[in-house]
Amino acid sequence: MSFAFQATGLVKRFGRTTALAGVDLAAEPGTVLGVLGPNGAGKTTAVRILATLLRPDAGTAVVGGYDVVKHPAAVRRISGLTGQFASVDEDLTGTENLVLIGQLLDLRRRDAKARAAQLLADFDLSEAGDRPVKTYSGGMRRRLDLAASLVGRPAIVYLDEPTTGLDPAKREDVWNMVRAQVREGTTVLLTTQYLEEADALADEISVIDHGKVIAHGTPAQLKHIVGGQTISVRPADPAHLETVSTILAKISGGQVESRGRGVLSVPVDDGRVLGTVVRRLEEAGIDVIELSLHLPSLDEVFFTLTRGTAATHQEVPV
Ligand SMILES: Nc1ncnc2c1ncn2[C@@H]1O[C@H](COP(=O)(O)OP(=O)(O)O)[C@@H](O)[C@H]1O
Ligand SMILES: [Mg+2]
Repeated sequence: MSFAFQATGLVKRFGRTTALAGVDLAAEPGTVLGVLGPNGAGKTTAVRILATLLRPDAGTAVVGGYDVVKHPAAVRRISGLTGQFASVDEDLTGTENLVLIGQLLDLRRRDAKARAAQLLADFDLSEAGDRPVKTYSGGMRRRLDLAASLVGRPAIVYLDEPTTGLDPAKREDVWNMVRAQVREGTTVLLTTQYLEEADALADEISVIDHGKVIAHGTPAQLKHIVGGQTISVRPADPAHLETVSTILAKISGGQVESRGRGVLSVPVDDGRVLGTVVRRLEEAGIDVIELSLHLPSLDEVFFTLTRGTAATHQEVPV
């Protein structure tokens, strides 16, 4: 298997702080790796090492076949970076920023201008192109950051918390632009504090906390960590809650929880018991207005993992 980027055993200390305590990260070409973790987990430090802005104390990182320490210039040629350390100049216009970056990347002025115009159009910024960046809204600024990282048509893009602080609608805009890049074959390393974002964009997710990868897998695999699936039932008549609870407990052998709004939920090891639930409810003459079998949310996964009680459940440990 050849990876677009692969970091192995990365260690980085800042004085007495260990930002990375031996981190492995990898993504196949054309996929999105989500690096999910709370503030201070070590996400930016890992990105900066992969982007050659920081040297690891130990471990190796190879991007597009090039070692980041031995061949930083080659790595920079094929990768684009945005996020917490985006380099756009507030006083320049959107167009000027993109043209400048193009010229720093050795594009001829004419080509740099054409590329800037194309990116501004792609990112819905054409009209704002002649305005100084300091007049941009948060969402526009984030889209310009993203455009800036793509000027050199990088094969690999690092997006460091690209939607932090954006409202949900603007977050969705950024997601769609990331998806468009991935469709063109770009490999993306996306860091995020939002479980929902990793779930929406990532092919695989590495969950990182205190400088360590504490779980890795596809979104679906991670959701299995908290113990299989959940059946939720909402009887049409709240008077039936008691009976429904008894039926669910008996079939699943699990703890039935009330999630408010008259919905009862119970974890199940095997989704096939759903059929049995349906039959028992029918036999008892209970009408339901909601009945579902679902994987837990990534929020539940993260909670389980960081609470440190995941040991007995973890099916895809690292
Ligand atoms: N330049 C630095 N000097 C000192 N400590 C740092 C530096 N950069 C990061 N750290 C520390 O390393 C840890 C990881 O930081 P960071 O990689 O920025 O986390 P994240 O991006 O996940 O929020 C934090 O404890 C942070 O305070
Ligand atoms: Mg960070």
